[in-house]
Amino acid sequence: MKYFPIKGTNLNVSNIVMGNMRIPQLSKTELEKLIRTAMEEGINFFDHADIYGGGESEELFADAIEMNPSTREKMILQSKCGIVSKDNYFDFSKEHILKSVDGILKRLKTDYLDILLLHRPDPLMEPEEVAEAFDELHNSGKVHYFGVSNHNPMQIELLQKYVSQKLVVNQLQLSIAHTPIIDSGIAVNMNIDQSVNRDGSVLEYCRLNDITIQAWSPYQNGFFEGPFLGDLEKFPKLNEVIDRIAEKYGVTNTAIATAWITRHPANMQVVLGTTNAQRLKDACAGSEIPLTRDEWYQIYKAAGNMVP
Ligand SMILES: NC(=O)c1ccc[n+]([C@@H]2O[C@H](COP(=O)([O-])OP(=O)(O)OC[C@H]3O[C@@H](n4cnc5c(N)ncnc54)[C@H](OP(=O)(O)O)[C@@H]3O)[C@@H](O)[C@H]2O)c1
Repeated sequence: MKYFPIKGTNLNVSNIVMGNMRIPQLSKTELEKLIRTAMEEGINFFDHADIYGGGESEELFADAIEMNPSTREKMILQSKCGIVSKDNYFDFSKEHILKSVDGILKRLKTDYLDILLLHRPDPLMEPEEVAEAFDELHNSGKVHYFGVSNHNPMQIELLQKYVSQKLVVNQLQLSIAHTPIIDSGIAVNMNIDQSVNRDGSVLEYCRLNDITIQAWSPYQNGFFEGPFLGDLEKFPKLNEVIDRIAEKYGVTNTAIATAWITRHPANMQVVLGTTNAQRLKDACAGSEIPLTRDEWYQIYKAAGNMVP
């Protein structure tokens, strides 16, 4: 397992993260096994959100491992707030952020979060209010570090102008079958769809500003349209190339799909959503596979992307 420091923090993190969005599908015993497997594989980073499992995932997680101070110290816990899922809108008000964090800490049975992310940009955000909330959370020790998710560069700039703590993470959707953060940079100045820069060069912005990118839904095609691995109907060429490269390295296709992200020099973290302990192990095997440049591009092209 590869580890690296998140810049601007004292956290040394695994580049593979256990995501907890889908854990309500599991029994307590299955979940306990999944978390133990993750830790045995060297994962030290766990991603949550106050809305996962309708607000239940964090509690299920803490209960499954019977959270206590000694287990807590071995984990880096991140959660997110800012989505009001029952009414489907976003809320970055001070009151909402503070209340959300109190709920997260109670459910995770801990007195601090290592990282808090704002989940999705709220157009009604008043950055001064967010700054007040972050100061209160930081000064009370409830949250050590802060970041965002699904934010573009100008949204981060706006927030960072007011917030005193450095924003250290941006969690973004990235898989081989979903690569907008990479595509436009490859096709700059061409008159094709791939050239359209929809996110304001967020990948380059994060690298320039020492913001760690966390890739969510690393095996999904589209917005939860299902995994591309093994989908021979929609992704025949991609699966053929991945399978061939997997054979060369003696690993599964899951490891290669993971390595395609970890190979990127931005030092990204891959946020897994699997509820299957074996698939989690397979993914961890991709943490350090040094895909060659040629292999990385072969996979990128097999997903239907153009390299001019
Ligand atoms: N910031 C955000 O806005 C945001 C949004 C979504 C998610 N997230 C985070 O990212 C994490 C991962 O998201 P995700 O769950 O969508 O990611 P994912 O790992 O791409 O997808 C996991 C799902 O795909 C299935 N799967 C994966 N590989 C498969 C294969 N080869 N064959 C069949 N099924 C396969 C898994 O089934 P099994 O369980 O059976 O393996 C599971 O249902 C979440 O837990 C959450 O922490 C963040």
